[in-house]
Amino acid sequence: MKITLLLISLCVFYTLGSPEISREVSVRITPSRSQFFQYEDVSLSCESSAGVGQLRRNTTTRGTESCSYGWGSIRGSDCTINTVYPSDSGVYWCESHSGQQSQRVRVTVTAGSVILGSPPFPVMEGDDVTLQCKTRFIQVLSNPHTDFYKDGVLVRSTGTENMTIHSVSKSDEGLYRCSISGAGDSAESQLTVRESYPAVLGGPDTPAPNVPPLHRLICHVVVGTPYLVSTIILGLIYRDRRRALKALRAAREHLRGNWRRLGSVGGRRCNVQKT
Ligand SMILES: *[C@@H]1O[C@H](CO)[C@@H](O)[C@H](O)[C@H]1NC(C)=O
Ligand SMILES: *[C@@H]1O[C@H](CO)[C@@H](O)[C@H](O)[C@H]1NC(C)=O
Repeated sequence: MKITLLLISLCVFYTLGSPEISREVSVRITPSRSQFFQYEDVSLSCESSAGVGQLRRNTTTRGTESCSYGWGSIRGSDCTINTVYPSDSGVYWCESHSGQQSQRVRVTVTAGSVILGSPPFPVMEGDDVTLQCKTRFIQVLSNPHTDFYKDGVLVRSTGTENMTIHSVSKSDEGLYRCSISGAGDSAESQLTVRESYPAVLGGPDTPAPNVPPLHRLICHVVVGTPYLVSTIILGLIYRDRRRALKALRAAREHLRGNWRRLGSVGGRRCNVQKT
């Protein structure tokens, strides 16, 4: 019982305490990758069905700021950074007026000459994922030798810029980087694989990120069970009460009938005594 209580309070805490990541707010990044060369243009757009949304970011150099703070130019719901610098590296997200947040996208800007183009958002288990190793000097190098590393370990050595992982699984998660001979190394970027789970629990568009769906499910079950049980018990009590009332009413009818019969018998007896 103590353990159940502990589990319930933990789950309530977890459900209430986890940052509000909403399906109603989402962020898009163009080009769709995490790493950028210095001087590229990067556009972020904020999509919110929960009222007006604004783009926010958290960088190590300047902390948390919204796009209106001057680091980007706003056009409608888009925030464009014309010419990015390494100091623009950080996490970016969309936030609605009511404080609901989209998932976060990590942006890494390098002054170097190689970047890894990897999905900026978690990918679904079973998807094909292409990692692209790009260099500024693409015209100079034809078919450069390219190495891909996962968590510091060489995983593929190719003569092309792309490494495709067919049907990704949880085991493909990790920090990836690439290196092009004669050009240099990229920074590292995280590849996150989300387990596929029944569509009932989350739409295919923007499922809640970073929260293992199974944990969520267990929490919902643990938190929901007492409600379900008490509802069933109340239902049973109600049914029993109705049954009891019915029995009571039947008994009363029966009793009333007996009284009536008794009364008529008594009446006759009275009449007999009077005469
Ligand atoms: C911003 O980033 C710093 C360092 O990574 C972190 O300590 C801080 O909590 C972040 N702030 C927000 C609002 O995410
Ligand atoms: C590598 O992948 C990118 C996008 O995923 C694609 O545009 C490009 O043409 C590919 N390059 C090669 C050499 O296949």
